[in-house]
Amino acid sequence: MQNYLATTKNVYKEAAINPQEGLCCTTTPVWQLPELDIPRIMLEMNYGCGSTVHPRDLANDPTVLYVGVGGGMELLQFAYFSRRKGAIIGVDVVEEMLTASANNFKAAESLNPWFNASFVDLRYGDALNLPIADESVDVAAQNCLFNIFTADDLTKALQEMYRVLKPNGRLVLSDPICAQKMPQQLQNDERLRALCLSGALPLQQYINMITACGFGTVEVRAKRPYRILSPQQYNTTELIYIESVEVCAIKDPMPADGPCVFTGKTAIYFGNDDCFDDHKGHVLLPNQPLAVCDKTATNLSALNRNDIFVSESTYFYDGGGCC
Ligand SMILES: C[S@@+](CC[C@H](N)C(=O)[O-])C[C@H]1O[C@@H](n2cnc3c(N)ncnc32)[C@H](O)[C@@H]1O
Repeated sequence: MQNYLATTKNVYKEAAINPQEGLCCTTTPVWQLPELDIPRIMLEMNYGCGSTVHPRDLANDPTVLYVGVGGGMELLQFAYFSRRKGAIIGVDVVEEMLTASANNFKAAESLNPWFNASFVDLRYGDALNLPIADESVDVAAQNCLFNIFTADDLTKALQEMYRVLKPNGRLVLSDPICAQKMPQQLQNDERLRALCLSGALPLQQYINMITACGFGTVEVRAKRPYRILSPQQYNTTELIYIESVEVCAIKDPMPADGPCVFTGKTAIYFGNDDCFDDHKGHVLLPNQPLAVCDKTATNLSALNRNDIFVSESTYFYDGGGCC
């Protein structure tokens, strides 16, 4: 690949000037919230593959960084929760996208009496070198951008998000993933990569890259079917199945025995005692499912007890549980 970052900029310059509904086929329903009216143009420019907006991350008026603004829809949704000047910082490397989203925020102002465009601070900048101070944001979000990056650039982008987050801050992301090995010729196709179709990594590899940056807790919140690359349409001999994932990574201190990664596993004690206590902070009450991280799930399974059931990953984790 000669210059896939320049190709990416050109693809999104075009998508800013001529909005392309369906550029990224998200199947995630758009948030419907009281008194939130999303302008039609923002819906048409929804170039994401899931949602990064989760009310549980957004209590206490957080400062949110959003990298890769697109038409601005998710920034408007974040602003719904942080209604003050500059609370949402949007960074994009495509000038035309910054201009388009600024226009869209003006349209949003006229539809939403609670919203003021000054809530969003738009900045020109690159995900690989963020124009943001260290430890200055509570939430750092990106939707359908990081999958475009090659491994070295993805590491840089994740390290940048880690750098700018306050301690205990949250990285929320949505991206395509692919369990199959993406054929090299597709990986090297700069345009397909820019269109979020051929940079997708296996989920475990993506999680490993996130935890390698220092995030002590990772939550896999959703996993959904996304796209098929068929041999009839793409340069591949086999059908490639792509999913999209929503992940929250928390800048918690790294536990001594490694990160806590929640993929939706649950432990259930069904013995005759009042509870089961592993004396490592996990107390299982009879027949009350406890969400456990994968590390704890492995440790509990290794006990080989006939009164503890550990479920498979659902990839739909929504909080609570151990650790
Ligand atoms: C697939 S679109 C996603 C847009 C938006 N997140 C959404 O969900 O609709 C990717 C976005 O990232 C921007 N972008 C591309 N390369 C970038 C980079 N290196 N740094 C920051 N933004 C970039 C594009 O201009 C575009 O706005």
